[in-house]
Amino acid sequence: MKIAVVGSLNMDMVVTAPRIPLKGETITGQALHFVPGGKGANQAVALGRLGADVSMFGCVGDDDFGRQLIENLAENSVQAAQVRTLQGATTGVAMITVGDGDNSIVVVPGANGLVDRPYVDSIKEVLLQSQLVIVQLEIPLDTASYVIDLCHQAGISILLNPAPAQKLPADLIEKTTFLTPNEHEAAIVFADFGDYRELLRRYPEKLIITQGSAGASFATQDGEVHQIPASPATVVDTTGAGDTFNAALAYAWSQGRTLEKALVFANVAAGLSTEKFGAQGGMPTLAEVMARLS
Ligand code: RIB
Repeated sequence: MKIAVVGSLNMDMVVTAPRIPLKGETITGQALHFVPGGKGANQAVALGRLGADVSMFGCVGDDDFGRQLIENLAENSVQAAQVRTLQGATTGVAMITVGDGDNSIVVVPGANGLVDRPYVDSIKEVLLQSQLVIVQLEIPLDTASYVIDLCHQAGISILLNPAPAQKLPADLIEKTTFLTPNEHEAAIVFADFGDYRELLRRYPEKLIITQGSAGASFATQDGEVHQIPASPATVVDTTGAGDTFNAALAYAWSQGRTLEKALVFANVAAGLSTEKFGAQGGMPTLAEVMARLS
């Protein structure tokens, strides 16, 4: 199955520190690292590591970061021919602080904010050759909606990872095959978020709510809520765990696993991803996931 990721590419500037500083506080950190990131590129790289047939769609600026991010895709078996370099734009960056098993992130979109309908029209022919398309919200919502409309009309399966979260129109949600917010994102996406189990029952086998160390939940058509426990891990850096989860879920489902089994696979992959530094540093290969699963 051909999988496409339409989304962001960022250079992550990661400061390691003993903990995340409080509002208005200055603390001393340990080191500064520049590593490839961006929710879209992270998900594409995670798919590449797992051995999927994956293409990345998005934009970078005409600068060194942009060139490095495109090279990084190729090094991780991601087809990057459709990634556009925009003259006069800067590549997206994320300022990340990692400390005490947690992180905080501020993203400056740069070229990601310029991924627009004309760009999508220019890559449409290639995009519509995919059987599964994955979208996040680090590109404009108008563009994400346009991609989802096109893919829905073409009968292509769609996984929407609504991160960073915003309220979504009901018809957009209807067009997705899978919607994968975490608990905080679900509260923003759904204005009437109450009991998460009721919400899951409204979107059986479509809505998957990730719950960090508690795993991930979904409801079956008969209204039963299933919680798939997280996989134990020795955590170094949680950045990119959600991206690995989404990519591994898409991969496992595209390989014919049931949703429940795909979520077990995704939780194991996400757990493994936290055991090394950087959003992409710990993303596992298929062999690594299979070894941990057994
Ligand atoms: O999900 C993690 C990613 O969020 C980071 O790589 C950063 O670039 C931000 O987009």
